[in-house]
Amino acid sequence: MKSLLQAVGLKKTYRQGTRQVEVLRGVDFSVAEGEAVVIVGPSGSGKSTLLHLLGGLDWPTGGKVRFQGKDLYALGDGELARTRNLSFGFVFQSYHLVPELTALENVALAGWIRNGAGPSRSALKAAQEILEQVGLRHRLSHRPTELSGGEQQRVALARALVNRPPLLFCDEPTGNLDSETGSEILKLLAGLHREQGTTFVIVTHEPVLQRIASRVLLLKDGRL
Ligand SMILES: Nc1ncnc2c1ncn2[C@@H]1O[C@H](COP(=O)(O)OP(=O)(O)O)[C@@H](O)[C@H]1O
Ligand SMILES: [Mg+2]
Repeated sequence: MKSLLQAVGLKKTYRQGTRQVEVLRGVDFSVAEGEAVVIVGPSGSGKSTLLHLLGGLDWPTGGKVRFQGKDLYALGDGELARTRNLSFGFVFQSYHLVPELTALENVALAGWIRNGAGPSRSALKAAQEILEQVGLRHRLSHRPTELSGGEQQRVALARALVNRPPLLFCDEPTGNLDSETGSEILKLLAGLHREQGTTFVIVTHEPVLQRIASRVLLLKDGRL
């Protein structure tokens, strides 16, 4: 299988005043196209830090991240932002929806940003299709406060997927949900993986997410 994303000797140290917190101490890791990799580890082990670095959202203290062979952190800011926008989807524990926008507009917004063209009928159509896929046909014109936590996370998932990114990053995607709603999201992720071959990197401390993994890795003492 072709390697899509690679981390080589990845390091991250946070500075707090005079204190240094060494979170990642040389992470080596590779994800092939079509894999669903789940990274587990206790709270505070550096899972979010690692995910942000893999997704081009932060700067490493050392090491490299390669996406389709390109060194992410050697790209200029514009090129890095473009790669993130075109190739990565993100789902976080908090849904980060725009409160003033409806479910449909929240999802369509990702398409508008991608095309740099503002509201378009085709972006709305794509948003509606993906919202239907995640079971929200009846919630298109609801605003986030009018949706349950599980529904908001499904909108966030639809937004992450509307541009059909080859790689989806999830940080504790079921962390704010009760176990029943969490397993609905899990089923959706499993379905996407099976039917569309979406590549996933999921970090979580919830063992249940391991069920959809093709590989489970443990982050401990700054290493995988
Ligand atoms: N911006 C920051 N500044 C200083 N320390 C941080 C920062 N972000 C995270 N940390 C520390 O790094 C460690 C790992 O955090 P994090 O990656 O959020 O872990 P996890 O997601 O596994 O719970 C924690 O000890 C946390 O306090
Ligand atoms: Mg975290």
